[in-house]
Amino acid sequence: MNFKDYIRVIPDFPQPGIRFKDITTLLKDGQAYRAAIDALRELVKDKQIDLIAGPEARGFVIGAPLALALGIGFVPIRKSGKLPGETVEAAYDLEYGKDRLAIHSDAIKPGQKVLIADDLLATGGTISTSIELINRLGGEIVGAAFLIELSYLNGRDKLNGLDVAALVTY
Ligand code: PRP
Repeated sequence: MNFKDYIRVIPDFPQPGIRFKDITTLLKDGQAYRAAIDALRELVKDKQIDLIAGPEARGFVIGAPLALALGIGFVPIRKSGKLPGETVEAAYDLEYGKDRLAIHSDAIKPGQKVLIADDLLATGGTISTSIELINRLGGEIVGAAFLIELSYLNGRDKLNGLDVAALVTY
């Protein structure tokens, strides 16, 4: 399946000059969504993974079904102020803007093997901050899986050789 056929590109959103990759057109197609999760599962199936961690919000729609497909659990990484328990947090830069990410302090036990999943690798800010949080909890990151990689933003360069899988590259 050519997943690009299901991803809609919207010019000048949320700012002039940004060509937004809209995955809602893929998600609403049951077969395409299923195929995307199956393809991601194929890419990571030989890894030993205890947990998937995914950043809000679109990381949830990729990470949670991938965790179910692998038969493992899912840990949400959220914007600051959303998680009810004790958290660890870190500030980060986005492709457009700034924010803070948080994870529950007890979400990952030291030594657990974690795969990070998200819809999109752009500048790599979200993923490198997620890596920082998981590392602070003692988790071992075994890779990252994305629906889309925007290779022209060089996000991979921030990830210190981390094993990165992506279904679609722009
Ligand atoms: C988007 C996207 C990734 C991140 C990628 O999320 O879903 O998580 O940006 O950009 P980066 O590699 O430059 O960090 P966003 O923060 O817009 O949040 P949302 O999923 O809640 O819309």
